[in-house]
Amino acid sequence: MNRSCLAIILAAGEGTRMRSTLPKVLHRIAGRSMLAHVLAEVQEAGADRLVVVVGPDHDRVAAEALKVAPHAEIVVQKERLGTAHAVLAAKEALKQPVDDVVVAFADTPLITADVFSDLRKPLASGAAVSVLGFEAENPFGYGRLLVEDEKLVAIREEKEASDQEKAVRLCNAGLMAFQGEGLLDILNAIGNDNAKGEFYLTDAVSIAAAAGKLASAVYADEETVKGVNDKVQLASAEATMQQRLRNRALVAGVTMTAPETVFLSFDTCFGKDVEIEPNVFFAPGVSVGDGVTIHAYSHLEGATIKNNVSVGPFARLRPGAVLGEKAKVGNFVEIKKTELGEGAKVSHLTYLGDATIGSDVNIGAGTITCNYDGYDKFQTVIRDGAFIGSNSSLVAPVVVGQGAFVGSGSVITGDVPDNALAIARGIQVEKKDWATKFRKTKKK
Ligand code: UD1
Ligand code: CA
Repeated sequence: MNRSCLAIILAAGEGTRMRSTLPKVLHRIAGRSMLAHVLAEVQEAGADRLVVVVGPDHDRVAAEALKVAPHAEIVVQKERLGTAHAVLAAKEALKQPVDDVVVAFADTPLITADVFSDLRKPLASGAAVSVLGFEAENPFGYGRLLVEDEKLVAIREEKEASDQEKAVRLCNAGLMAFQGEGLLDILNAIGNDNAKGEFYLTDAVSIAAAAGKLASAVYADEETVKGVNDKVQLASAEATMQQRLRNRALVAGVTMTAPETVFLSFDTCFGKDVEIEPNVFFAPGVSVGDGVTIHAYSHLEGATIKNNVSVGPFARLRPGAVLGEKAKVGNFVEIKKTELGEGAKVSHLTYLGDATIGSDVNIGAGTITCNYDGYDKFQTVIRDGAFIGSNSSLVAPVVVGQGAFVGSGSVITGDVPDNALAIARGIQVEKKDWATKFRKTKKK
């Protein structure tokens, strides 16, 4: 589509029903805000310009918008006087010539780029307005699409609808597209003489129709256009998004024994021949290479996992964990800001933070990098082929040389040279027949 497009995203909602100090559109679904989901899809659909309409004191909303869409323009709707009024907050942007204008709500997070593109199609063939409709299971609260002779003539809001109109199940999803030329005239013609005293964007349809212009409807399924107004709907949107992400992963060839127990983020990415056991959680920023197995009950965030790695069960990978090829991370291991070299093994009960671990290093059970003194973080470096005996504490900053050994139970506070053995623990003492004598005295 060669037509230019301006997208206006309405994010000025109060969201009081969320019962939260966080603005509604900043609530997350699959690891990113609803606003970010909508902005990403609009951008993918090829919007040339983006305007985000925010409420007063919505600095956090503006900041989030700019994070995902640095070129977006932020405008403030000072008073919440309705959806048409909100669009008019972008008046300056609307004054510049553009072919298509798309309006979307930031609280409709499941919308996809395809839907935006479909919605714009009627504009290319001359429609003045294009509305996204859906067949609602329960239409209560939605604007109803009134169709006569296959032409969309009006959208009637719940509060103004007659009983007959209330029976209509064809509803407005809230996503609308307009021919740029003439849109300001239509918006300026919208009044607020209705039950809510609001300027309804939906009145654009009857105004266009009365002027002899064509209004069309394009249809989507209800699942895709679900709006979020409270935490119940947020959870429901999350469930739909999870199902979508799981299906995408399964279709791409990921093996999941119980996909319904695996939670993904919008940006989780997988290579070939990946297996995921039940109850695994992927927070944002995880990339998984080829031939990787993630065992049950693991929690991963901001981690890069290279090919043929095995993780878990019960592993926790935190941001900055980079696991080299064929590395192994076993149960009850936590890894943060640490790179594991090729073939390195950390099989049990270990914390590695702020560390660089070489290739083929073996980290024994119960190893801890003591990386923090309450004020600053320090680095631990373990070079290729080193062997850390079980239950060792490595007090950073510290370097264990190539091929070196650390004896079990050591507290290592100084650097260990290449190929040396460092033992830092009490020396064992044996007292011959001590136990026999001890028991004798006790029995007396
Ligand atoms: C709106 C539609 C209705 C549609 C429904 C779909 C209108 C008049 N009605 O109704 O036809 O079926 O969405 O969910 O458009 N907003 C602002 N500033 C305002 C008012 C609203 O930014 O002054 C934003 C809200 O943050 C929200 C969106 O616009 O994201 C929709 O507003 P809302 O009041 O929720 O409209 P509905 O009554 O749900
Ligand atoms: Ca709404």
